[in-house]
Amino acid sequence: MPNKGKQLLTVWGSPGSGKTVSAIKLAKELADQKKNVLLLLCDDICPTLPTIFKSKTPIDVSIGEVLTAPNITQEVILRNCVSFDKNPYISLLGYKAGENPFSYAEYKKDRAVDLLVLLRHIADYVVIDCSSMLTESIISTVALEVADGVLRIGSCDLKSVSYFRSVLPLLSEPKFNVDKHIKVLSNVRPLQDGEEYKNAFGGVSYTLPYVQAIDEQNSSLTLFDSIPGKAAKAYDMVLKVIVKEVFGDE
Ligand SMILES: Nc1ncnc2c1ncn2[C@@H]1O[C@H](COP(=O)(O)OP(=O)(O)OP(=O)(O)O)[C@@H](O)[C@H]1O
Ligand SMILES: [Mg+2]
Repeated sequence: MPNKGKQLLTVWGSPGSGKTVSAIKLAKELADQKKNVLLLLCDDICPTLPTIFKSKTPIDVSIGEVLTAPNITQEVILRNCVSFDKNPYISLLGYKAGENPFSYAEYKKDRAVDLLVLLRHIADYVVIDCSSMLTESIISTVALEVADGVLRIGSCDLKSVSYFRSVLPLLSEPKFNVDKHIKVLSNVRPLQDGEEYKNAFGGVSYTLPYVQAIDEQNSSLTLFDSIPGKAAKAYDMVLKVIVKEVFGDE
C-alpha cells in the first residue's frame, strides 16, 4: 500500500499546458513501479478517452454513469472503468466519445466527493486530469479540494499567465490550499525564456521540457508507451522527482 497515505494527485493548469500528457506520464511511472493506478479524466467538453489510446472495441462506459448513479458503489465504478491492454496496472475512468455536459443529469458536489473517497479504496494511486474550466466541472473543483497533492501546470505563454490571474482568485478559500500547489512549467523549449515565466508564476518547482517525441506520441495515441530517444531522459528524471515529492519514498 502507498506510504504516508498520499494517494491522490490532482493535475490542474491552464488550457493546453500539458495536463493530460503529464497525468498520463505520471500514471505510467507509477504503473511501471507495479502500483495500481486509476487515471480519472474529468474533461466533459472534449472527452479525453478517445484521444489518448486506441481501443480495440468501442468504449461504452463513462464517468458520467458513475456520477449520476443512484448510489455510487465500487461495483458501479469498476463497471465504468476502462482496462488498459498494454498495461494491466492502469485503469481509466472518463467521458466517452460523443458525450458532452448535457449527456447526463446534473450532479452535485457530494457525488464527486463520494467518487473520490471510493477511488482511494479501489486503487493504490489516483491521478486526476482536471478540466481547466473549473466553473464547468464540479469533479475538477472537488479534486482540487480533496487531493493529497496538486500539480499546477503552466506554460510559457501569456495565455497561461492570464488564465491563472483570472482563476486563482476563485480558489482563495483556505480549503483549496493553493500555497501547497507544486508549480510546474511544462512544454518548455530551449529558446524559451523560462525564467521570465517562472517569475510570472511566482516561482516554479519543476520544469518539464518540450520533447518532440512526446508530441508525436500524443498524435499517434501512444502516450502510454515509454518515450523513445535521448531527449526523454531529462523529462523522465523530472517526472521521477515529482512522483517522489508527491507520494513520498516507498
Ligand atoms: N513535454 C511535452 N513535450 C512536447 N509536447 C508536449 C509536452 N506536453 C504536452 N505537449 C503537447 O502539448 C499539447 C497540449 O498537451 P495536453 O493535451 O496534455 O494539454 P492539456 O493541458 O491537457 O490541454 P487541455 O486544456 O486541452 O485539456 C499537445 O499537443 C501535447 O502533445
Ligand atoms: Mg487535457
